[in-house]
Amino acid sequence: MKVSDIRQLVQVKAPVLSRQRRVLANAYNVAEFRAAARRVLPAGIFDYLDGGSEDEVTLRRNREAFEAWGLMPTWGPVDGPDTTTTILGKHSALPITLTPTGATRLFHPEGELAVAGAAAAAGIPYGLAGMSTVAMESIAGHFPQLDRWFNFGLSGTPAARDEKLARCKAAGFTTLIVGVDTRALGSRERDLRNGFTAPPSLTLSTLIDIASRPGWWANFLRADGLSFPNLSPQGSNPTVTPTMWQQILGHSDSSSGWAELESLREAWDGRIVLKGCVNPKDVARAADVGLDAVQLSNHGGRQLDHMLSPMDVLQEARQQVGDGIEIYVDSGIRRGTDVVKALALGADACSIGRPYLYGLVAAGSAGVSRVIEIFAEELRRTMTLVGVSTVAELQARGTEVVRDLRHATPSTNEHPAGTQHATLVSTATQ
Ligand SMILES: Cc1cc2nc3c(=O)[nH]c(=O)nc-3n(C[C@H](O)[C@H](O)[C@H](O)COP(=O)(O)O)c2cc1C
Repeated sequence: MKVSDIRQLVQVKAPVLSRQRRVLANAYNVAEFRAAARRVLPAGIFDYLDGGSEDEVTLRRNREAFEAWGLMPTWGPVDGPDTTTTILGKHSALPITLTPTGATRLFHPEGELAVAGAAAAAGIPYGLAGMSTVAMESIAGHFPQLDRWFNFGLSGTPAARDEKLARCKAAGFTTLIVGVDTRALGSRERDLRNGFTAPPSLTLSTLIDIASRPGWWANFLRADGLSFPNLSPQGSNPTVTPTMWQQILGHSDSSSGWAELESLREAWDGRIVLKGCVNPKDVARAADVGLDAVQLSNHGGRQLDHMLSPMDVLQEARQQVGDGIEIYVDSGIRRGTDVVKALALGADACSIGRPYLYGLVAAGSAGVSRVIEIFAEELRRTMTLVGVSTVAELQARGTEVVRDLRHATPSTNEHPAGTQHATLVSTATQ
């Protein structure tokens, strides 16, 4: 056989020289973007992004909680499928939001601007962290079409709160995300070991680690110094000092409660999402005090270790509130199949954190866009294979589409006379 014959049979891929373009061409899933991010970042920074608290039981459970559910397709024609939906009254191209992650310029010099650009292009909401390293006004100026959410802290004086609310409003942020899972800071032991503390405690091995990633280091040094412009008054943008790091990394709020939330409800006429609870009682109370949505979350396993996974409580939470409030899920979502399972169990949307950060580290804004696109492709494919045409149909079919394999027991009882085969029957969904 001649080379020209082989060429006709096999498409030979030309080598891609740019590392970034190589990742974009060759990463087929979120796990491969994670691997690419690991090759870019110093180990200490990667661990800060990737790690969880204490024994990382919750971090692992977040994946197991999705893997515990199986999908059950129904055969028949599928039209589309159409992945669009409505989130808090606005059209969204996908039932997916990008959830807040702080200090993003630590991972890539374009930081939150790159993430916001990808979310705007994809037509999905982006939640900017209170601890973001780009000012909310800058996000608004660059991406006026973006559905902008802001991670709002309850602590501080009423005057400071009202000033921040006015700032959010002026910058066109429609929705506040109030986190309730940081009453104390989770102990992330990888960070302690790596000296990623406040202030950073650099050991010889930390320095060798940083030196081993000259590309990241060069980008970091070339960029403006890290600052947290949404924490300080508008217009002031002080570079972070060791004392500020201490305040930022050690920041937690154990004094706020429902009274502060109710007061915020009165003061803010936009939408409010409660983020970071898994207790259906909290979900019911959030509905009672007039919040618009709850994001079931364990902070991606970074706070309370052994905390339940949102997937463990989603059905119960939905039953508590009916259609009275929107429910989102985050923590461990890595595939389109995960999104389908969550929607079938009662979620209105899913939120992703680390996946878009892996994309950002590996290939900047194009990497974030590619990660969102992978979710979209996987979602479309899974919907087609499961046999649903729209997000609303998937939600309506609900537990017809999923089975809890942890509680499944072989049974022949339910079958019409003459049916021989045993099947798996879920007790959890009854
Ligand atoms: C590096 C990093 C920083 C984060 N910063 C914040 C934050 O500032 N505010 C917040 O509410 N959640 C923060 N989170 C938690 C995310 O919003 C989200 O709950 C979590 O990442 C979801 O899990 P996943 O990463 O498995 O998708 C952070 C997560 C990561 C990985």
